[in-house]
Amino acid sequence: MPVIGLGTWQVRNCAALVASALRAGYRHIDTARNYGNEAEIAEAIRASGVRREELFITTKVWHEDLRAPDFARSVEASLNALQLSYVDLLLVHWPSIQGVPLPETLKALGKAKTGGLTRKIGVANFNIAMLEEAVRACPEPLAVLQAEYHPYLDQSKLLAACRRLRLAFTAYCPLGRGRVLADPKLEKLARAKGKSIAQVVLRWLVQQGVASLPRSSQAGRVAENLEVFGFELTADEMAEISSLRQRNGRIVDPPMAPAWD
Ligand SMILES: NC(=O)c1ccc[n+]([C@@H]2O[C@H](COP(=O)([O-])OP(=O)(O)OC[C@H]3O[C@@H](n4cnc5c(N)ncnc54)[C@H](OP(=O)(O)O)[C@@H]3O)[C@@H](O)[C@H]2O)c1
Repeated sequence: MPVIGLGTWQVRNCAALVASALRAGYRHIDTARNYGNEAEIAEAIRASGVRREELFITTKVWHEDLRAPDFARSVEASLNALQLSYVDLLLVHWPSIQGVPLPETLKALGKAKTGGLTRKIGVANFNIAMLEEAVRACPEPLAVLQAEYHPYLDQSKLLAACRRLRLAFTAYCPLGRGRVLADPKLEKLARAKGKSIAQVVLRWLVQQGVASLPRSSQAGRVAENLEVFGFELTADEMAEISSLRQRNGRIVDPPMAPAWD
């Protein structure tokens, strides 16, 4: 999984933006059935000429579709819209709030993998207890947890659980939906490094072994967010960024959210 992927939630002109991201070198695109933009992503992929094997495409099944037949229909609809025979990563978007038993959903997820509809499987927005249960109950190995993570949100417990359970961690809202980009301490650090704040924050994630999915509606920023490999943060700089964590730093907390760790 390329460590920088393009976030596409609520992106306007999605096809044009994905096309420019692919030109800039992105190979990892994050979408979801719920984002309603899979057809636009297909259009951009088709026009790009980039070979399918080079791409890493993630999609997700919405929490209202976690019963086995609905799950299968959602995956089929995603693949049709994306014009792909398989995705690279299929995620359960949120845990069920309608009491669908987790094993039923995980069986459907595993079936998508054994049926060749996805190369890897994972979950998003699970807490540690749910993750442990999911790893135990899933008939196929889970590979990824996708969850909110940025300098204002302490995810050290969840990150440690992922390492223990051998799951890759992918950060959504890696830029805190833009909130961290006005931070004076980050600004000072970024100036000293000769980088943008976004690049420093994404580098902080890279150096923790965390993949991230920055989103921008501006092609220049999309390209900028990929340029995080030519420099390194020292241990002190890493610690300084981690120290920005805030008690109320979480941004995404909808009604279907579990009890967070
Ligand atoms: N699994 C889930 O439940 C879940 C939940 C939330 C998000 N996600 C995924 O994660 C992706 C990213 O999260 P997000 O979209 O919430 O927020 P984000 O990537 O943390 O932040 C996006 C904001 O940052 C700004 N920005 C981006 N790059 C910038 C740069 N280089 N300089 C200045 N500003 C910059 C953008 O503004 P401009 O557009 O003006 O540049 C936008 O307002 C989503 O798009 C989605 O794919 C998944």
